[in-house]
Amino acid sequence: MATQQKSFSSNLGAIMAAVGSAVGLGNIWRFPYTCGKYGGGAFLLVYLCFVFLLGSVLMMSEFVIGRRSQHTPIKAFGTLRPDRKGWMLVGVLGVVTSFFILSQYLVLSGWTTGYVWDAARGTLGSLGTDAAAISDYFKAFSTDAWRPALFLGVFSLLVLAVILGGVQKGIENVSKVLMPVLVLLILVLCVKSLTLPGAGKGVEYLFSADFSKLTGEGVLAALGQALFSLSVGMGVMIVYGSYIPLSDNIFKTAMWITVCDTLIAVLAGLAIFPAVFSCGLDPAGGPGLVFCVLPNVFNLMGGAGTVFAVLFFVLLTVAALTSAISLLEALTATFCEHTHASRTAGALLFFGLTTALGLVFSLSMGSLSHVTVNNLTLFDFVDRLNSIYLPPLCALFAILFFGWVMPEDEVKDELSNHGTLSIGFYPVLRFLARYVVPLALLVVIVSGILS
Ligand code: PHE
Repeated sequence: MATQQKSFSSNLGAIMAAVGSAVGLGNIWRFPYTCGKYGGGAFLLVYLCFVFLLGSVLMMSEFVIGRRSQHTPIKAFGTLRPDRKGWMLVGVLGVVTSFFILSQYLVLSGWTTGYVWDAARGTLGSLGTDAAAISDYFKAFSTDAWRPALFLGVFSLLVLAVILGGVQKGIENVSKVLMPVLVLLILVLCVKSLTLPGAGKGVEYLFSADFSKLTGEGVLAALGQALFSLSVGMGVMIVYGSYIPLSDNIFKTAMWITVCDTLIAVLAGLAIFPAVFSCGLDPAGGPGLVFCVLPNVFNLMGGAGTVFAVLFFVLLTVAALTSAISLLEALTATFCEHTHASRTAGALLFFGLTTALGLVFSLSMGSLSHVTVNNLTLFDFVDRLNSIYLPPLCALFAILFFGWVMPEDEVKDELSNHGTLSIGFYPVLRFLARYVVPLALLVVIVSGILS
């Protein structure tokens, strides 16, 4: 049996940290606008199927790979099948994916941090209910060189500070405090939103399924969203898997995380759509929904609007923080395992590299917008890489490894904690892992290439 070098102190700690990774901008920023774009309830239904049938299986497979091997992604694949070293490349792909995702994530997180400040100072409030002024403000903010850079830097430093604190004292303790805060904030916002006049239309929008609006593109977006939201397909959950206490039930842990992540996404929808409908605004506002539409909603609330605006952007920033922490941890831990560098050195190195690249992506919205790859700005290019290509590809290889390459007795031994837990779900899991998940991922990848 493997001895554990580093681990979370308890099952609760492991769940909180992994929920912290899963719940992020994907839930509160991306889920509502994607759901709005593809018709509300119908998208939600498809999303739920993907999250539970595919996403949770991927999460379990990454946890098994991480905890069984007690290594970070690259070595994990090499240790579990020492005779097939080529699979280590999947780990490399995961690390590269984490690197690009974190660099881009820092830009968006910098915006949410900036909006906390702007909401608190009353700048957002002073824009009133003029929709054009609010979106012009967002445009000016995101294309500026200095302000996004400043907030990106502040956010990155917060992430760095937690990583330097270590796995238990940093990541676990911070997650244990921030996750309940996040739930409280989202509940307050839901109550406010649901009690606005005409809120019912928003609830109806989220829960009534109009399949005529759900295109093939919407189905693919639902699958991409499921992967992103559960933080699978980039090795982060392999690293967190290696920190899960050896006595924990991996199946239950993954199910808890999946349920919590999904609940938070639905709650985010309930906090946003009723308010948007109540104010007569457009639910299909796209990526600008939270930055361009919600300030209008808050300003329509009058005096209390400022408080709710601050609470909302704090919520977004907290969610982004625990996700960014998991990405920097994955990079730092992998680097340190291979080079034997100190944790401080590894964290500083990747903090520096991802912040620098994040700054370049941020500038590509404004002064560097003339630099393009395939006619896309650098930010849009990396966004495409991060949503359509890298995570599904990495997830595909990881699930093929889990379903077809890793010795089956080891998979069963790990899921059952050496035969001490019953694993009646195993035949279903194996079927999903061998056939259903790879096929679905293949469809996403091929249609991504063709689009
Ligand atoms: N799951 C996070 C979110 O929903 C994003 C993320 C992806 C975090 C991959 C870590 C790794 O925002």
